[in-house]
Amino acid sequence: MPASPKNQPYQRKGDKKNSEFFEKYLLEIYKKRKAQGLEDLLGHIHHFLIQVELGTAKDLIAEKLLHTPFEYHASFEHEAFRYHILRVSDVNPDLLIREPLVELNDYFYHVNMISKKGSAKPHTRYIGEAFAVQDLKQVYQILHEQNTVQFQQELPAKLPENHIAWTMPSIFTNNCLGYIEYKSGAKQYPKDADWNFDDETKAKFKLAKDMFKTYSLEEYVGPIDHFATRVYCHDREHSILEYLSLTNYWFWGAYNIGDQNSSTNVCRNLQGLPESQSPAKVFTANNTPFYVNHIDKLPSPTANFVRNYGRRLHHIAYGVKDGFIGPESDNYKNVDYVVDQLKKTHMKFLEHIIGSCKEGLKQIFSQKSQHSLLITEYIQRCDNFDGFFTKENVAALTQAAGLDDLIT
Ligand SMILES: [Fe+2]
Repeated sequence: MPASPKNQPYQRKGDKKNSEFFEKYLLEIYKKRKAQGLEDLLGHIHHFLIQVELGTAKDLIAEKLLHTPFEYHASFEHEAFRYHILRVSDVNPDLLIREPLVELNDYFYHVNMISKKGSAKPHTRYIGEAFAVQDLKQVYQILHEQNTVQFQQELPAKLPENHIAWTMPSIFTNNCLGYIEYKSGAKQYPKDADWNFDDETKAKFKLAKDMFKTYSLEEYVGPIDHFATRVYCHDREHSILEYLSLTNYWFWGAYNIGDQNSSTNVCRNLQGLPESQSPAKVFTANNTPFYVNHIDKLPSPTANFVRNYGRRLHHIAYGVKDGFIGPESDNYKNVDYVVDQLKKTHMKFLEHIIGSCKEGLKQIFSQKSQHSLLITEYIQRCDNFDGFFTKENVAALTQAAGLDDLIT
């Protein structure tokens, strides 16, 4: 049983079996990163970064304002990109949306172009999440010089203001990890110049946020709770271990979803911060490679997604405040109300709300955003449910997303 950050044993959840390799290196990684001081140098997730096609950021921002608690904060340009900052508060991770100002011919363009459905939006992709760190030079020295982690750029001897060191994309997930020095207060980013939307776009943003408030959604929908990446079956253990070697997260556990031929694997901060401040990182992988699908005859929604879109982030989940609306005997909880309100804004969902408070939590997936290719999830955990996920809910959600991928 691994030790928690406070050296209290925690019971790993789930029933997915891991290899001896995984169990051995899981403990080795925990031991090493503690000895290197990495655990203490790394803090919470500072921001998430999504890239979209040039000219489409405004549509994704309006969508986020309408569907989530994010507020539009500011825009700026830096090097080959225009960035837009969405913020809930100083303590929750920001969401940065960026659009390339020039045609890119980079790694992400190429991985998008070789995926069957991702090629329709060659620049659209979740890039990664950046961690707040106390001392960037020290973190870089440990990761790059001691652990031979590859970064997109060498760390300059004299650090530019608010510098973010991004790793090269993981060969297992296509996600990058960033590191930025941050202690508290309003987050700052490296920028060349401020940039502004025109008045008409700003008015649309205001309308979207007003609608979110008019429908009382701000009372119920909270910040990002978790985010889930889909990978190939042979990359499952490597994706988890690599992430743990680069962060201060812990492997919380994994559920085997046998009839969907898939597993859901959860890594959490567990440093005493709630998910709203440092959301859980989830990896989903098929159990078997796609070439035996025709023999086993099992649905393979996770493998189908990765084959169509490439290894990439699949969804971002927002926490819904626990509680209910109306008589307590009803199964009509806050998340049911939230979904009914969002439907009034013409948001489309896959299936119905899955789970119940009796089982611990209720969840639902939206349809994929056409601007980000990401699904939005809403999740309500009832009565401080400490299970985080349930096997039954994960199975139903995996199935719903799989059916949608077959049609779209
Ligand atoms: Fe999820």
